[in-house]
Amino acid sequence: MTLWKGRISTGMDDAVAAFTVSLPFDQVLAPDDLDGSRAHVKGLGKAGILTDSEVSTLLDTLEVVAEEFTTGAFTFAPGDEDIHTAIERRVTELAGDVGAKLHTGRSRNDQIATDLRLWCRRSLVAVAEEVMALQDALAQRSVEAGGVYLPGYTHMQRAQPVLLAHHLLAHGWALARDVDRLLVTVDRLNISPLGAGALAGSFLPLDPDYVAAELGFHGRFENSLDAVSDRDFVAEALFDLALLGVHLSRLGEELVLWSTEEFGFCTLDDAYATGSSMLPQKKNPDVAELARGKSGRLIGHLTGLLVTLKGLPLAYNRDLQEDKEPLFDAVIQVSQALIALRGVYETVTWNEERMQTAADGPAAAAIDLAEMLVEQGMPFRQAHSLIGALVRDSLERHVPLVELVAAHPELGDAAVELLEPGVAVTRRRTPGGAGPGPVAEQIERFTRRREVDRTRLAQWAPSGHS
Ligand code: ARG
Repeated sequence: MTLWKGRISTGMDDAVAAFTVSLPFDQVLAPDDLDGSRAHVKGLGKAGILTDSEVSTLLDTLEVVAEEFTTGAFTFAPGDEDIHTAIERRVTELAGDVGAKLHTGRSRNDQIATDLRLWCRRSLVAVAEEVMALQDALAQRSVEAGGVYLPGYTHMQRAQPVLLAHHLLAHGWALARDVDRLLVTVDRLNISPLGAGALAGSFLPLDPDYVAAELGFHGRFENSLDAVSDRDFVAEALFDLALLGVHLSRLGEELVLWSTEEFGFCTLDDAYATGSSMLPQKKNPDVAELARGKSGRLIGHLTGLLVTLKGLPLAYNRDLQEDKEPLFDAVIQVSQALIALRGVYETVTWNEERMQTAADGPAAAAIDLAEMLVEQGMPFRQAHSLIGALVRDSLERHVPLVELVAAHPELGDAAVELLEPGVAVTRRRTPGGAGPGPVAEQIERFTRRREVDRTRLAQWAPSGHS
């Protein structure tokens, strides 16, 4: 069905139609488009533009159409340019003349802006739920990790031992910021554009506040031009997803490294690894690599949309149709990566001995030796240089550090104890630090933080938007 046959005499050339249609990708908006139409129909009834019986006919018809989508019985017609056209066509087929009243006072411009906000609201909430499920896996593995430790790195050089739980929770907190960002984005985008019409509002006595409330939005647009042209919320969603993707990429990169023979810190479960088509011995971390690789695409989606938006004059321009594919793809890719990585973390085996042996290199406790001297009154810079010189001496003369420490007049037996395997990590006792005391407290704080986030998420559950 074309919506403009009064003004435009001919149909569209097939190749041009293929270029302009959005139905192949915007059909995922069907539930949101139907929600928007229900609210609009009620609004038209409230404004006295539709009679009560017209309202109930249209609402019933929209229900039938919704059912057709749910059961897969809905069939698209060749002329359906987009999801809005398809649904309006079907409503008109089913309801006859009254169907032709559905679009009164509405444009596809405010309609698509409404649909997309509704879609973003439910999809970003669903992504946040998946992020929390990954956090659960990290939390679970952190609790199980107990006193296991590994080297902490700076500049990719072994620096100080840290508890494995501390390391895993570092990723958990980054994900907590992702949950927060997603929910703040949802909160900000929760404004209704419906009633802005094509660009200027309407002469008809529509009530944008009423339809906004019907759709669970916080409120209505302030300016109709802005309402139909604003895609900030899509850009924000894409940023949130790109940054989340960057976090997943770092998780993936770490698993790739840790599962190498060189590191050997972990063994991936067979269900989350792949073999090589040629080399029989290979076990490859493809899932982790894809979690890393997808981030390029996600960043591309964000930059692509920003470029699309930057030159657009007010108000609606068809360029805006280009917002959808990157957005839909970003949500799919991130959701799949979250599910896959969760499975990896739930099943990965930590090679605790490898981790701990790597962390037990004597120099890993160098800061503890220096801090012991500080406790005895030596200025830190002097202590740093004394221990640094011992480490160098040990390396150059191939004498174990422990012997040099034992023989040093200002160090001796108490210092030798600090070099015992597993001792250094227990000495990190400041809040937020890597030792057992602060980590136990951190696990509790992480649990509380997730409880708070779960409550925030529950407010966006499908039954109770707003
Ligand atoms: N498919 C269009 C989009 O995604 C819907 C709005 C069309 N509006 C119009 N004036 N052609 O933006």
